Order: sequence, then structure tokens, then C-alpha cells
Amino acid sequence: MTRATWRTRVGFVLAAVGSAVGLGNIWRFPWLTAQNGGGAFLLLYLLVVVLVGVPGLLGEMVIGRRSGRNPVGAFGALCGDRWRPLGGLALFASVVVLSFYSVVGGWILRYTLASATGAYFSAPQEYFAAIDYGVGAAGFHALFLLATAAVVYVGVDRGIEVATTVMVPGIVLMLGGLAVWAGTLDGATGGYEFYLSLDLSYLRANFFDVLGAAAGQALFTLSVGAGAMLTYASYLGEDRSLAADGTLIAGLNTGIGVLAGLVIFPLLFSLGVDPGAGGPGALFISLAGAFADLPYSNLVGVAFFGVVLLAALSSSISIYEVLVSYLVDEHGASRGGATAAVGTLFLVTGSGAALSPSLFTLLADTIANLALTAGLLGFLLFDGWVLGRLALEEYELGAGRIATLAGRPWFVAIAVILPLFLAFTFVTGIGGVVGVTPTAGQAGAIAVAAVGGCIALFSRRSRA
Ligand code: PHE
Repeated sequence: MTRATWRTRVGFVLAAVGSAVGLGNIWRFPWLTAQNGGGAFLLLYLLVVVLVGVPGLLGEMVIGRRSGRNPVGAFGALCGDRWRPLGGLALFASVVVLSFYSVVGGWILRYTLASATGAYFSAPQEYFAAIDYGVGAAGFHALFLLATAAVVYVGVDRGIEVATTVMVPGIVLMLGGLAVWAGTLDGATGGYEFYLSLDLSYLRANFFDVLGAAAGQALFTLSVGAGAMLTYASYLGEDRSLAADGTLIAGLNTGIGVLAGLVIFPLLFSLGVDPGAGGPGALFISLAGAFADLPYSNLVGVAFFGVVLLAALSSSISIYEVLVSYLVDEHGASRGGATAAVGTLFLVTGSGAALSPSLFTLLADTIANLALTAGLLGFLLFDGWVLGRLALEEYELGAGRIATLAGRPWFVAIAVILPLFLAFTFVTGIGGVVGVTPTAGQAGAIAVAAVGGCIALFSRRSRA
């Protein structure tokens, strides 16, 4: 059977943008921004997206396009079977991310319906508390999963490409409309001030915490580290410029993320709600509460949650596809069989997260960041120290003049600088989990030792 490819460049870019734009931009981003000092977080996040996210995304796409495989098969096909376990990191990250993602997807689905009837209008807080976890949440999670599976089942070019080509422009139009409307509300200015003003003293006092959160969020929002972009790039022809496509994808994703902030913050401030209150429930409780007080509240609610639902679906299909492509490529499964098997797995893991708030928070807050960081670290060290020249060659295929000039600096960045940065945030993140906070110097020393060790190991094994 020949492997599918994207029909058009636009189709691929939109599918990848669809993967990137999702709950990360709309649900996780405002929550983290509020928790980490507003504009200070925004600034670091944008820096990490440009300096780490974009080169990292290209490093991931290089492996996908070069191999034309899923994450596990990619490492095997490129440099021999002993590298396959490295792809396991990406599969693990995919399972972690979709397990809680589909639970939030279920909440969104429920809120879309509940907006039509106004179910949450009178008591938003109680409403969220009643539906957030439990059997109902597991049921809505299953429905969201089913919708995801349906698109994946139809296939890459006819399912994913067609669906995302409609979804992404729809998301942009609706968010744009909502942003304009939010700007007309009384008190919207307070929201812009919070969102866009920079509190340097806050940043100075909490630099490493804010940096860690910004780094995790940058990977999450660009969908890197879980093999989703690797897999999407594996359906790509050799004639496209990865650098141009990657930059475009990151640019659109960031633009749409910032746009989402321009909807959410004015809306919250116009109603006097604290954007930081409520953790993962913030968006639901505060925004939903806000809608209740507005004219045409049902319509606004359905429009808003409807867009978020589309954005969430176009992301979840990219994660689901990672595992389906793995089963199809590596185990000769049919697309239908693979879709069903992956669905069964997520039905179990997602239900776990839907039933247990502590499991949910652990996955969404910490393990996801760590898993994506580890996954990307594996990809980049592989690029730099196992693929080596071939990675640069692949990057240059189809690249224009500027992208070609940037090739060498890019290679140095992904082989050395980014791994050090990722290892550093990984160490501080693990410190948070086990309850010891290493100083920046200690975390830096561990990161240098770990990356140095991996480089020695990788370059020896690649010669063996
Ligand atoms: N980028 C997606 C979002 O922001 C989430 C995602 C993470 C998708 C990792 C794929 C892989 O919602």
C-alpha cells in the first residue's frame, strides 16, 4: 500500500496549524499567563517560541520527512533498529497529552451544548464543579474521542486535510470577530493592560519559574515533542521548504494564541473576574460566568465554545494520528483496526483522568511538560549526533536562500544549545515533582553533564 501524502502545501500547513492551535492557546495559555504575572510570561513565552520552538519544530520535521515514517519507525529506518526505542518517548508523550486533552475536549463539548440551553448561567461555579470529573466527564470524553477517531479513520488527505482546511479559517474568523466584540465591552482596557504590560520586578523575582512554565507551554502549543509534527511531516514531499513552512506554522499559531488572549482578557476584566483564580477550571468558570451576563448569551456561548471545540479537535487528531501511523507502519495494522485499538487505549487512560482530578492535574500540569521536553530532547540529539550532516541536508532540501543561510546556525542550535536548555528545564521540572528545588547553578551543572553524556553515547553508538 502506498503511503498517503498531503494534497497541497496549504493543506499541510493548515493541518499543522490545526494541530498547534488548540486548547493550548485558549485554555492553557490564559491560565498560565495569569498564574505567571501577565505580560512577563507573554514576553518569555514569545522568546522561547522563536528561539527554541521554531528550531525545535524544524528538527522534528526533518526526521519525519527524511524517513517518511511514524516516530518509532523513523529512527529505525534512518539509522538502524537500535534507535527505535527513542521513538517510544514520543509515543509516551502522545499518550500523556491525549489522555487529559480529551477530557478537556469533553468539557468543551458539554459547554457548547450547555450554552445553547443556558444550563450553567445561573451558577457557573457549581455547574463546573458538578461536571468536571466523574462518570459524566468520562462519557463526554468518550464522545470527543469518537469525533477525533472518525476524522483519523477517514485518513490523512481525505479526513485530516479536508477537516482542518475548513476548521482553521473558521477558528480565525470567529476568534477575530469575538476579539472585536470583546474590545467594545466596558472595562476591556483593564484586560489589555494586564495582558500586555510588563512587570519586570515580577519577572526578576520569579525568573526560573516563569521560564519553566513558558518553555513547557511553548512546546505544548507548537505540538513539538510528541511526534505529531514528525508524523505530519512524514506525509510531505521533498520539494517544500521545511524552514518556510515551520516558520509559517509557528507564526500563525502564535498569532492565533495572542488573538485568543485578546478575546479572553478583556472579557474577564470587563466582568471583574480574576483571571488567575480556579486553575484548570478558570476558563470555564470565569468565562462561562461572564457569558451569562451578556446580551445574546446563548449565542455568544455556543459561538465561543464551538470554536474552541474545533480547535481542540484539530489538535487531538494530530496526536491520535501518531499512534495510528505507528500501528499501521510498524505492525501492518489496517487503518480501521489501528483507529479502534488506539481508541480503546485512550478510552481507558482518558477515563482514568476523567475520574481522578489528581491524575488529571498531574498529567496536564507536570508530566505533559516533562514528556514533551524529553521527546524533543531525543529528537534533537538524534538530529545533531546521529543523523548529523544528513539532518542539515534534509533541512536544505527545498529551502530558499535565506533558509539555507540559516542552516548552519540552526544545526548548531539544535545539536548543542537547545538540548542544554531543554535539559535545564527538565531538571528544574523534575525538581518540582520530587519536591527539591535545585539552584540554577545546580540544574545547569546537571544539564551539562546529562547532555554531554548523551552526546558521547549517541556519537559512539552511531559509529558502532
Ligand atoms: N498544540 C496543541 C494545543 O495547543 C496540543 C498538542 C500538544 C498537540 C502536543 C499535539 C502534540 O492545543
